Amino acid sequence: MASLVIEPSGPLRGRIRVPGDKSISHRLLLLAALADGISEIHGISDGDDVRRTRTIIQQLGAVVEDTGHGIITISGGELHEAEKVLDVGNSGTSIRLLTGFLSGLPFDSVLDGDQSIRDRPMDRIIDPLHKMGGEVQSADGLMKAPLTIRGRSLSGIEYQPPVASAQVKGCLLFAGLSARGPTTVVEPLQTRAHSEELFAATGISVVDAPGRVTVLPGRPNPFHYVVEGDPSQAAFWVVAASIVPGSEVTISRVYSGPARSGYIKVLQRMGASVDYDHLTGDLTIRSAPLTGTLVEADEIPGLIDEIPVLAVAAACARGETYFEGVGELKVKESDRLAGVEEMLTAMAVSAEVNADALKVTGGKLEAAHLYAKQDHRMAMAGAIAALVVDGPVVVEGWEAVTTSYPGFVNDLETLRSEG
Ligand code: S3P
Repeated sequence: MASLVIEPSGPLRGRIRVPGDKSISHRLLLLAALADGISEIHGISDGDDVRRTRTIIQQLGAVVEDTGHGIITISGGELHEAEKVLDVGNSGTSIRLLTGFLSGLPFDSVLDGDQSIRDRPMDRIIDPLHKMGGEVQSADGLMKAPLTIRGRSLSGIEYQPPVASAQVKGCLLFAGLSARGPTTVVEPLQTRAHSEELFAATGISVVDAPGRVTVLPGRPNPFHYVVEGDPSQAAFWVVAASIVPGSEVTISRVYSGPARSGYIKVLQRMGASVDYDHLTGDLTIRSAPLTGTLVEADEIPGLIDEIPVLAVAAACARGETYFEGVGELKVKESDRLAGVEEMLTAMAVSAEVNADALKVTGGKLEAAHLYAKQDHRMAMAGAIAALVVDGPVVVEGWEAVTTSYPGFVNDLETLRSEG
């Protein structure tokens, strides 16, 4: 296992670009695989999760070519049964979206992943897919991966998922493309809207009304698409520049659509100086003193992936920060609720989990040995916390960052060298 040693930091300064948005990248690959013709994607995420989806569409018959300069082309439209198990690695988005995508295609598939994937709940997608007439079998009926999907003709349904989840919504909308009749997902709390945005952008009929999205069966048109920077990766630098005194950082061209920028509102409420340029998509952050806040349950779907690094911001703030309704963190790549509590406690800051809530009391972070537990976002949150500590911090299991942000250390070095 690789470990990273992070030394305390002087001011962070300069401009960087974060990887292309991961959620958008997965969906574009699936849409390009379905589209009859050649699609072109600029700036796709270079993380392992997206690479897995890319390999899987190749196994299913799409032809993917790297033309250099961050541009790939995909020739889709003629998919067939894969010869081998489709391995999503650590990618929850891949397995959730692909299970829906494959359920209505006329062949069988097996989806599997690493131990974290095998531990994650899949009943949230299996139940509604069965309601659509799909056939998804889980190992020993435990509703966990590996999943065997027997392609069937599906019927559209109207469905309200029991948890607010863009992965579940995306799964059902992708299944809906191959169903008879419309498929509607009802969501009381808005989750990220990439499936519906990209369906509409590629010519699929979608009706996106507040709280309910409906897709009609069909196939996307081939497309050209430029992927903007991932706001969830930008979040690490937004927090880093806020908490390291004397910093000023700009992140170029960051996506800012629905349910992705909630963390910026929370940080601004805490006193952070974050400016978003709506013309360029650039985010500029200057360090500022932070104060604790209350993050309410209805804000959580809009910042679900940013909670580990927001907890680091809370650890550096004056007073208490409460995160309510964060139970979903227990079933991410690792149990992030327990992970955040362990990380901050190891660094001498008080963090308490009570049922589905987390309370962090700001203090002085101290050097510690941290464990990423195969979770990219826990590894990076630990690295950001380390920047304000007086001594070196070790993050064990650092290799997990390749899941979403292989260039994280380079970007850190760029910001430090200009500081
Ligand atoms: C994602 C949705 C979120 C998020 C994940 C990516 C997506 O999961 O945590 O990293 O691309 O749809 P849930 O919607 O299940 O919370």
